[in-house]
Amino acid sequence: MSLYFEIQRRRTFAIISHPDAGKTTLTEKLLLFGGAIHVAGAVKSNKIKKTATSDWMEIEKQRGISVATSVMGFEYRNFKINILDTPGHQDFAEDTYRTLTAVDSVIIVVDTAKGVESQTRKLMEVCRMRNTPVMIFVNKMDREGKDPFDLLDELESELNIAVRPLSWPINQGYTFKGVYNIYKQNLQLYTPNKQTISESIELIDIHDQELDVLVGERDAKKLRDDMELIHGVYDDFNQEKYNAGELAPVFFGSALNNFGVKELLDCFVEIAPSPRSVKSQEREVNPYEETFTGFVFKIHANMDPNHRSCIAFVKICSGKFERNVNYKHIRQGKMLRFSSPTAFMAQKKETVDEAFAGDIVGLPDTGNFKIGDTLTSGEELHFKGIPSFSPEMFKYIENADPMKTKQLDKGIHQLMDEGVAQLFINQYNNRKIIGTVGQLQFEVIQYRLLHEYGAQCRWEPVSLFKACWIESDDPIELDNFKKRKAQYIALDKHGRDVFLADSGYVLQMAQNDFKNIRFHFTSEF
Ligand code: G4P
Repeated sequence: MSLYFEIQRRRTFAIISHPDAGKTTLTEKLLLFGGAIHVAGAVKSNKIKKTATSDWMEIEKQRGISVATSVMGFEYRNFKINILDTPGHQDFAEDTYRTLTAVDSVIIVVDTAKGVESQTRKLMEVCRMRNTPVMIFVNKMDREGKDPFDLLDELESELNIAVRPLSWPINQGYTFKGVYNIYKQNLQLYTPNKQTISESIELIDIHDQELDVLVGERDAKKLRDDMELIHGVYDDFNQEKYNAGELAPVFFGSALNNFGVKELLDCFVEIAPSPRSVKSQEREVNPYEETFTGFVFKIHANMDPNHRSCIAFVKICSGKFERNVNYKHIRQGKMLRFSSPTAFMAQKKETVDEAFAGDIVGLPDTGNFKIGDTLTSGEELHFKGIPSFSPEMFKYIENADPMKTKQLDKGIHQLMDEGVAQLFINQYNNRKIIGTVGQLQFEVIQYRLLHEYGAQCRWEPVSLFKACWIESDDPIELDNFKKRKAQYIALDKHGRDVFLADSGYVLQMAQNDFKNIRFHFTSEF
């Protein structure tokens, strides 16, 4: 197969949702269609159940299996599909943000009863930063939920994106009868079933009397009225707008009952983008270029403390990656060769000889890689766009075992390179502050420092509201600001200036008083 054809048939995406909307269930059903698994229930999600606030062994166990489920590749209708898994627990949201830098599109799962929830909103913001094409699956139609038209309004206003239904439910909850597939113009009647796939009924014209026979006169009339309304209110599906991340097609179904999932997948492979160009500092890289380029978006540490190797997950941005070929690690300026790169097919990790733009390869690593590192066939390129977001929680990290200072330092730096959390060094007192998205990450750090580095840390409270990256074209004003706020100025791990605002009010005052300073809430600006 030609390079062009191989790349063109790849669909690399992530499924994102607020916890409990049905991401894991939908992932599993998609794998069933791809033949990657044969029975439902085979996917052991790597999500950390919300009840397990700090059940350590459970988390470790789940992290252990999550390597295999990090990327799930399978073949479907001549397409090569790569689903990138994201952690279910919101304390690991930063991991999800980074994974989103490696996908070409996204499917958002929304619970019909709950509508748009906080995590959905946040993840959508990340998608918007890179204009990632988004498709929405409204799940749990077998339960009572919001009126579909109200839900579309909510999606539009809360997610700030135009929507276009491509399938439409006939009732929901107890009276749920099925969905009409607007995209393919066929009808699927609902029969609750967790294992098998219902057949669709071709229905070119919904004015056909056959519809009345199939769903009853009243519901047939309602569907016709709804269709009329949809065609009147919503513009037709527009591929360019979808590609630009401006329009989200919406599907309805029930992942648990395997209903509406095939419709979603069939439409997805047809309209979702194949690998897209990726920006580097030097130039935009086209996926169809012959030479290999890629970047590290995730590092997975080995759980075995005696064997501290990691797997660096590389998204291939262009060309073909080959086993045992020398590639340049741009940050270190050295050539590296990989004898056992792994790909992820049907939930198995296996050594591969080649992989193409759009694919993810796992490279066994003993500390060469950091998140964001670029690998190329030789060209000096630096891929951009693995942003850090202002953390939500902050604590001072202190050494609890003075004999192990070196180990602690090493551990902190390695964990930060792996992207577990963010480190800020307060320039006033030189104390180290760790910023996270949730409490669980502090526990992960403490546990891993002890078990992997033999170092002990202690947390001390620090009351902060946000960390903002600051910059200005006016060096005098920047200097003045740094002097005035000396106690609250820190450096991030790349040595960039960060203002640690202790309240929203203080931040607002600073923004008012120092008009020539730009305050950023992500590290990418
Ligand atoms: P998540 O990964 O987004 O967190 O959600 P997950 O798939 O784990 O689904 C959350 C709960 O919602 C699960 O129930 C799951 O069975 C249920 N669910 C998913 N899709 C549907 C659907 O279409 N209809 C209905 N009625 N329920 C659905 P649970 O009780 O939390 O877990 P489990 O014991 O069933 O695994």
